[in-house]
Amino acid sequence: MATGAEWPVIGIVGAGSLGQAYSALLASSGQSVVLLASAASANRLRQAGEVRLIGAVTRTVLVGDPGTPGRVGVTTDPADLAKHVSGVDRKGRASGILFATKGHQLPEAIAEVVATLPLRPSEASSDQAGRGGDWAGDWWVAGVQNGLVKDDLLADAFGSSRTVGAVSILGAGREADGAVRIGGLGMTYLGEFDAPPSVRVADAVARMTEAGIPAEVAPDIRSVLWSKACNAVGIFGVTVLTRLPGPSLWSNPDLVRAFRALIRETDAVARAHGVAVGDYVGFPIRRYLQMTASEHVEYASGLVPGGRSGQIAPGAFPSMAQDLFAGRMMEVEEVFGDVVARAERAGVDVPRTALVCDLLRGLNAQV
Ligand SMILES: NC(=O)c1ccc[n+]([C@@H]2O[C@H](COP(=O)([O-])OP(=O)(O)OC[C@H]3O[C@@H](n4cnc5c(N)ncnc54)[C@H](OP(=O)(O)O)[C@@H]3O)[C@@H](O)[C@H]2O)c1
Repeated sequence: MATGAEWPVIGIVGAGSLGQAYSALLASSGQSVVLLASAASANRLRQAGEVRLIGAVTRTVLVGDPGTPGRVGVTTDPADLAKHVSGVDRKGRASGILFATKGHQLPEAIAEVVATLPLRPSEASSDQAGRGGDWAGDWWVAGVQNGLVKDDLLADAFGSSRTVGAVSILGAGREADGAVRIGGLGMTYLGEFDAPPSVRVADAVARMTEAGIPAEVAPDIRSVLWSKACNAVGIFGVTVLTRLPGPSLWSNPDLVRAFRALIRETDAVARAHGVAVGDYVGFPIRRYLQMTASEHVEYASGLVPGGRSGQIAPGAFPSMAQDLFAGRMMEVEEVFGDVVARAERAGVDVPRTALVCDLLRGLNAQV
């Protein structure tokens, strides 16, 4: 098995909470990471000279030149990232690009990377070069954004054969002093969409595991994606509109019922698309759906730290609520609008989700 510096370079797009967390953890295990950052974030990281993780995991990893094993190789030039991931690995292993921008930033980030990807030598002079699989190198792409639309965007741009499904529940947030606070390493699921389990996914999971990032090969990544979508619609819908933290949701029977109503509708859309939701770390959706409302209320009250009167930490606000409070654009279209659109196309009625979507769009219009 390969270790540390022996792996091909991994590219990460977006030096935010997740981008820095994955970069620092992978680099601290000796791997080569190229982190494509905005000018503002690149300047800040270069000035600091390090990426600093605090909280559930602490790491301080030096910033260096792209491709240097053990360093977070920061660049603002997509061509740097493209050059490194498309290089030929002596052992024939695939490199990867993990997109870690917000959902609404993804189309622009994809376009920037696509524009710089080197072509296979035989295609470089052809007018048709660059379409589909004409790029040099055997690399894959994946996105950690919430929602399902990110994989459509990646497949449209890079081709479905290069697109690997990914779901991350690593919890991270940026602190005012530049550190990234890790709430928990969660689980990263990776899987092929329409192909049997592959060496490239097994390799990606192995390199994450080696970096201390819990990761699993998902035999049915669509089930994981839709289960996470159910959870996101339920949790974000309830906590953003009530402005209450997660523990308040679980300790309040009315809010548990609201959560259930939203996950039920999203599950109906999943079923209309031929996908069966499942039980995954942090979002046991099938189990929730099998419970009666009163069983679910009882189960949820047990999730509250310290019981119903437990202390509620400020960090217990889900990420979309944090975006609301910080005056940032919320990923309403990617999480809610997309589910509503898929429901309409499949002829599934989702009145509650559509209402929540409209209310959140109203809040987003204030940003
Ligand atoms: N954070 C979590 O705990 C968590 C967990 C699971 C899933 N997710 C999902 O993961 C995604 C990322 O979340 P996050 O919390 O890491 O967001 P974030 O902190 O806002 O990070 C996004 C990063 O992307 C950068 N960026 C945007 N466009 C870019 C471009 N064209 N080129 C290079 N960099 C670009 C941003 O630049 P600036 O630095 O200039 O802002 C920012 O650093 C979201 O879709 C979120 O829903 C997050």
